Amino acid sequence: MNALAVRDLAKSFGGVQALAGVTLTVAQGERRAVIGPNGADKTTLFHAISGTIFPSWGTVVLFDREITRLAPYERARLGLARTFQITNLFPGLTVLENVLLAVCAAAGGGLGLLRPMAAHPRLFEKAERLLEEWGLSASARRLVRHLSYGEQRQIELILALAGSPRLLLLDEPTAGLSPAETAQVVAMVRSLPREITILMIEHDMDVAFELADSITVLHQGLLIAEGDRETIRSHPKVSEIYLGVE
Ligand SMILES: Nc1ncnc2c1ncn2[C@@H]1O[C@H](COP(=O)(O)OP(=O)(O)OP(=O)(O)O)[C@@H](O)[C@H]1O
Ligand SMILES: [Mg+2]
Repeated sequence: MNALAVRDLAKSFGGVQALAGVTLTVAQGERRAVIGPNGADKTTLFHAISGTIFPSWGTVVLFDREITRLAPYERARLGLARTFQITNLFPGLTVLENVLLAVCAAAGGGLGLLRPMAAHPRLFEKAERLLEEWGLSASARRLVRHLSYGEQRQIELILALAGSPRLLLLDEPTAGLSPAETAQVVAMVRSLPREITILMIEHDMDVAFELADSITVLHQGLLIAEGDRETIRSHPKVSEIYLGVE
């Protein structure tokens, strides 16, 4: 079964054509990277998959179920989770509070902000367990705004995992990170079980090749190449548009 099948996906914003007919399948358990220059419509593709925007044309199928017009929360219930290109945390809350909100949302109980945390012992334990699993318990009570950017990206990944997703979309998880921080996030993604299919946008070609089984290249809203690292590295059009090589 495919985790994801996108067919003929197109989107126009007023007169501006963004996605121009993208067809793409990702098998269950696969790790796939999407690369392409700035403005290639990579994030727009993620928005259409996660339901932040509806496409003008085409379909999105998640684990054999058509989801093209479902709301984002309905897709989340079917096992889809994503992180954003810009961090999406509550900076004035602690790490534990951020994780707890994600765990509550994933449990379908709304945010439960009006009840004290102690009223949610099971969810509270789940949030603590997630932090422990990822070696971040020591940061549980720190305010997110006091974390390094690298730590914030790790917490974001944990939030995305709170709902036990089957398909995880990562939008440039290492953008803006130092080499050491990048290595940490890469290690985290690598350690995820194969039950979680991963589709990630990655600007760093080395990271993409390190994490992905295969790579899809977008350019101007079109899929221009797809394949393993050798195919991509030797693809003349990819060299031309992405690597800037003649
Ligand atoms: N809400 C919108 N309204 C109008 N145009 C939009 C909208 N969202 C995206 N676009 C158009 O889609 C283009 C592609 O944007 P997108 O963010 O998908 O690119 P990207 O490949 O993720 O780029 P980057 O590598 O910089 O993140 C933009 O240049 C913009 O013209
Ligand atoms: Mg983007």
